[in-house]
Amino acid sequence: MHLQGKTALITGASRGIGRAIALEFAHQQCDRIILVARNAALLNEVAATVEALGSRAIVLPLDLTQAIAVNVAVAHAWRNHGPIDLLINCAGISHQVPFLQSRLPHVQSEISTNLVGLYTMTRLVARRMAAYRRGHIVNVSSLMGKVAAPTMATYSATKFAILGFSQALRGELAPHNIQVTTLLPSLTDTDMVRDFHWFRFVQPITPEQVAKALVKGLRSDTAEILVGWQTHLAVLGNRLAPNLLARVVQWTSPSFRSNLVRLKKTF
Ligand SMILES: NC(=O)c1ccc[n+]([C@@H]2O[C@H](COP(=O)([O-])OP(=O)(O)OC[C@H]3O[C@@H](n4cnc5c(N)ncnc54)[C@H](OP(=O)(O)O)[C@@H]3O)[C@@H](O)[C@H]2O)c1
Repeated sequence: MHLQGKTALITGASRGIGRAIALEFAHQQCDRIILVARNAALLNEVAATVEALGSRAIVLPLDLTQAIAVNVAVAHAWRNHGPIDLLINCAGISHQVPFLQSRLPHVQSEISTNLVGLYTMTRLVARRMAAYRRGHIVNVSSLMGKVAAPTMATYSATKFAILGFSQALRGELAPHNIQVTTLLPSLTDTDMVRDFHWFRFVQPITPEQVAKALVKGLRSDTAEILVGWQTHLAVLGNRLAPNLLARVVQWTSPSFRSNLVRLKKTF
């Protein structure tokens, strides 16, 4: 898909990867970009940059875990700015914590944003795309959606789930002329991972690299866009030598002894 003249809705657009995708779409002359996240002030800043690059920006401050508000806002956005050609489900949260110290509220918040929030937005937009018989949906998973790692169990679970969800939708929505793609970045330098204990030898990529890889991937009808050499290597390793890869992941994992985890942040 070429972006020129298209309308896109991007969740998680206030920061990090979603913000970089919004700016890259503006560079690609996307006509309208609907920006979704909770922080209206940050969204307004992104909107100003998008408009300076020549695209129209629409700010939609929303908490994706509030299904009724999302329902009303999407109906309104579609009526006033639709049809939406491209939905990028990028909003997400993660808690890095050793499993034995994990707490139910963390898991619940990851599930409500990464899965239920994504489901809510996808259902609302896909039904309208189906009526128009055109559209493209991109769900942001992760390298951790292919290869799970210690301290990331519940986050990995949501990202694995996004892959399954996307695979099912890809077949189911194809007769409606709606494409579904999954984006799988490796560790990316954003707010999300700033306080993480990183895996040894893992080099972060930039949100801009992820955004450029997405634009390139959208030009081909590929089911999965792998971003970063580490994702390519891990996916290949998982296919060819899963036991060896599991050992490597274990070996490179951050070691959590006594109070190494920043519990203040996650509890
Ligand atoms: N960083 C990485 O290493 C990495 C690697 C692979 C995949 N990913 C995935 O990439 C996506 C973006 O991550 P990021 O690294 O850019 O993280 P980030 O910098 O923390 O940004 C997360 C975005 O999601 C929005 N968001 C969070 N909860 C929300 C909610 N309830 N309702 C609406 N918006 C919400 C945030 O905006 P507000 O706070 O303003 O709501 C923000 O715009 C996530 O799905 C993540 O899992 C990240």
